[in-house]
Amino acid sequence: MELLQVQDLALDYRSHRGTVHALDGVSLSMAPGEMLGLVGESGCGKTSLARALTGVLPANARITRGQILWQGRDLLTLSDAEHRQLRWREFAFVPQSAMNALNPVQRVSTQLMEVLRERSTLKPAQASERLGELFDQVGIDRKRLPDYPHQFSGGMRQRISIAMALALQPQLLIADEPVTALDVIVQRQILDLIVELRQRLGLSMIMVTHDVSVVAYVCDSVVVMYAGQVVEQGPVAEVLDKPLHPYTMGLTRAFPDLHQEIHTLQPIEGSPPDLRSPPVGCRFAPRCPFATDDCRRQSPGLVPTADARRQVACLRAAEADVLRAQWSTASP
Ligand SMILES: Nc1ncnc2c1ncn2[C@@H]1O[C@H](COP(=O)(O)OP(=O)(O)OP(=O)(O)O)[C@@H](O)[C@H]1O
Ligand code: SF4
Ligand SMILES: [Mg+2]
Repeated sequence: MELLQVQDLALDYRSHRGTVHALDGVSLSMAPGEMLGLVGESGCGKTSLARALTGVLPANARITRGQILWQGRDLLTLSDAEHRQLRWREFAFVPQSAMNALNPVQRVSTQLMEVLRERSTLKPAQASERLGELFDQVGIDRKRLPDYPHQFSGGMRQRISIAMALALQPQLLIADEPVTALDVIVQRQILDLIVELRQRLGLSMIMVTHDVSVVAYVCDSVVVMYAGQVVEQGPVAEVLDKPLHPYTMGLTRAFPDLHQEIHTLQPIEGSPPDLRSPPVGCRFAPRCPFATDDCRRQSPGLVPTADARRQVACLRAAEADVLRAQWSTASP
């Protein structure tokens, strides 16, 4: 059975500036033990999806349709109390900027202890031992538990936020941009830690990032989002090597990888649409060099490829080989 399945999920935010349709018809699935990358530009809905999965949404958010099946059980039909039973124990969340959210005037040990007290039934002696284990797991000397957050580097604070999420030994860790604010060397160390934790603890992971090279480095599969929708998904090596969706083609050229010189990077021209009134038809059409009149009229659904290994939402997916070759010279 799939570990997690999302079906046709839609989520709105109500605000004084209007209703933002942050997710519209998002579907994805992941198997136990999988490392899935969720990638896309700023504002495409990555955090909204990650928060919807873990049930930690802001008060102005409303899920308007869809299902989130955790081991076959629809999380959206659970009461708050039932959801809380699963959160942290079965799936846990490292929020975006978590490393900067530690309380600066409280010792780290006190903050971690509070997490354990709130979420577990461990006795104080067991909880103290667990704190030591968590620091061991994320590679920080347990003698440093009583230090204050400012006494740790950014990379160490990120390790601590990962430790907090691991406190109750969840099966799935959802990490929202866990390396974004870090320099490249520390990024690599945190990514290596994530890979090691996954192997050692048998974790499944969703890695939320805007950076395709992070996905290439650590993930097995990837879901590419654009303007609140999934536009492509499949095994990382296949999707990044031979993208089927023009947006993915653009993303893979906008980030450096091991084979690409920095000077060959090409940003995707234009910006994503306003999600209060997304365009009719394909949402990528205003930026797509290959858009036709049909694309501006008809919204492409997510369709499996003939071998069923991948899914893509593009009316011209059958021509992907030709479009890929044209991408570098084409402009919208
Ligand atoms: N609490 C909120 N109230 C109103 N609109 C919101 C709220 N949170 C997010 N949004 C809007 O929802 C859309 C999706 O935002 P989200 O934070 O999910 O994107 P993201 O892909 O995580 O972006 P980033 O890469 O910048 O973190 C954006 O248009 C954003 O402005
Ligand atoms: S459906 Fe049309 S506009 Fe949208 S990505 Fe495909 S070719 Fe481009
Ligand atoms: Mg985000």
